[in-house]
Amino acid sequence: MKRRKFLTLSLTTATLLLAGCGGGSNNGDSMSSMMSSNSSDLSSVSVPDFNSKLVIPPLLEGVDINGVLNFDLNIQKGITSFFEGTTTNTFGINGNFLGSTLRVKNGDNISINFTNYLDEDTTMHSHGMHLPAVMDGGVHQIIKPNNSWSSKYTVKQKACTNWYHPHLMGKTAKHVYKGLAGMIIVEDDDSISLDIPKTYGVDDIPLIFQDRFFDANYEFDYSPSMMEIMRGYNGDVFLLNGKINPYIELQAKEVRFRLLNGSNSTVYDLGFDDFRSFKQIATDNSFLEKPVDITRVKLSPGERAEIVVNFSNEQDKTLYIKDFTQDKEFLKIDIIDIKMQQTTTPGTLTSLQKFTQNDATNKREFVLSGNMNGFYINGVSMDKDVINEIIPLNQVEIWEVTNDMMLNHNFHIHATHFMILKRNSNEFDVEENEKGYKDTVLIPPNESVTLIVKMTDYKDNINPYMYHCHFLEHEDAGMMGQFIVT
Ligand code: C2O
Ligand code: CU
Ligand code: CU
Repeated sequence: MKRRKFLTLSLTTATLLLAGCGGGSNNGDSMSSMMSSNSSDLSSVSVPDFNSKLVIPPLLEGVDINGVLNFDLNIQKGITSFFEGTTTNTFGINGNFLGSTLRVKNGDNISINFTNYLDEDTTMHSHGMHLPAVMDGGVHQIIKPNNSWSSKYTVKQKACTNWYHPHLMGKTAKHVYKGLAGMIIVEDDDSISLDIPKTYGVDDIPLIFQDRFFDANYEFDYSPSMMEIMRGYNGDVFLLNGKINPYIELQAKEVRFRLLNGSNSTVYDLGFDDFRSFKQIATDNSFLEKPVDITRVKLSPGERAEIVVNFSNEQDKTLYIKDFTQDKEFLKIDIIDIKMQQTTTPGTLTSLQKFTQNDATNKREFVLSGNMNGFYINGVSMDKDVINEIIPLNQVEIWEVTNDMMLNHNFHIHATHFMILKRNSNEFDVEENEKGYKDTVLIPPNESVTLIVKMTDYKDNINPYMYHCHFLEHEDAGMMGQFIVT
């Protein structure tokens, strides 16, 4: 009985499983293939050895048409060579794999115009952007093949590093895996006036961390088993801005890195191979008020951090950015002589409006749970036709999110940002480097977070936003809900 339910419920949401099990025939073989783990067969190719240059995604700043900055982005198929002599079918935005970086400023009127040149539906969500629900690019704003859709609004938020990626119901994981993702940099008066590194691609470096499995033909292998949907589809080939083992030359000065975990379900614990300390200056949606000295920054899928590392007087040195969870070097850095002006990141970066528990007039609880049958928030899986929460505009609320499982989850809220008040009911368990505005927060097994949330500016009685676990296999399997702001 139980297994039948498993096949009808979880396989309709995690449709990819069907591919491997004979259209739903229910026998022992299909069950065991659901349990098996993937690995890439790279025996006949040479894996790049930090000898190709890191790709910096092209920077778009918009074309002004009657006071609106327009960004034209084509969602298209591409062919990418990850190993010498091989090609992989990929998706990209204005390119073969991943997308251009958009840079906007607080107060700008923008229109991001997406055209879908794929053979299938997709959507394009602006993760971290504060925008009206119909401009969100969530599961409802579907872009049909050969159609365009524009996300138009006025930027109303602090400087930060956001990103865009598809959000089609049940297909988000697959579309991101194929290569659909790009950064959105938001600037404001703080970010422009502070004495921090800010020359894109020179001392302000975007880094998108991902991992993949490759099949025997060097195509991406997206075929998570049930176990991998649960525990994480953690690839064994690591990509940084779409390249395996790249290098970069950086000047002997302060350098800022914008770190984005763009992987489906891998948590990275990032630092340098010489264990040096650096400053974290920003969380998902804002600067920290003061830089925080750290040696590692942990990022779950969807999370961002900005860090500043001081390479002054270190010319001719070589070091690596690595992930200490997987013990994997991502980027070789060769320090060269300084050619530009030194920066001195100040001790105060911004001031943040903060709410306390006393400001809150409502409390909501969210329990993340799951089993072989599916993934749930408060006991229900995502239903496009159900609004799970109705949230009054401008009301300060406490959201307590509990991970009821023995594995990692995180929690992401669209269109707004929050602050973390407590971890496991304890305010002292919130780390200094997570005290900026955030939109995604890691919740380790059987732990909880207390968030302070406020929806501002945009109300809409009909069109919802989403909240969900950003481990994309969990999201696609139902760990998502919808809210409207009224
Ligand atoms: Cu980055 Cu609802 O997603
Ligand atoms: Cu989002
Ligand atoms: Cu999850």
